Amino acid sequence: MNTAATFTVAALLGLTSNLALASQDLAKRHGCLSCHQVERKVVGPAYKDVAKKYKGDAKAEAHLVQVIQKGGKGVWGNVPMPPNPKVSEADAKALAAWILSL
Ligand code: HEC
Repeated sequence: MNTAATFTVAALLGLTSNLALASQDLAKRHGCLSCHQVERKVVGPAYKDVAKKYKGDAKAEAHLVQVIQKGGKGVWGNVPMPPNPKVSEADAKALAAWILSL
């Protein structure tokens, strides 16, 4: 591999992990992580389980954006997810895309 290619790969890897960190930070700032963890069910489902459930579902991102902003219930059990009116459309999209990428 030549130096330019090595540099590009390193830059791309750096970029993806920065995006992942930014989204995790977003989840923390919006209080999502008090009910959710990536690996483990807390009050809400583990984000990895959410990603698994919707794998290959083209409408999943739009559905999750709705749930993140307006709340949801009955998909994972009897505990409802509260609405988050303060989360902007852009933040909800970034969070949904991040969760689905896990
Ligand atoms: C008070 C606890 C609580 C908070 C805070 C919370 N959630 Fe949830 N979340 C839940 C519960 C409970 C469910 C399961 C709801 C169900 O069964 O449909 C859920 C479900 C979800 C799902 C899966 C929805 C589906 O239909 O499959 C996603 C994605 C999600 N939450 C993301 C978030 C994000 C992003 C935030 C922060 C903006 C957040 N949650 C904040 C409790 C919470």
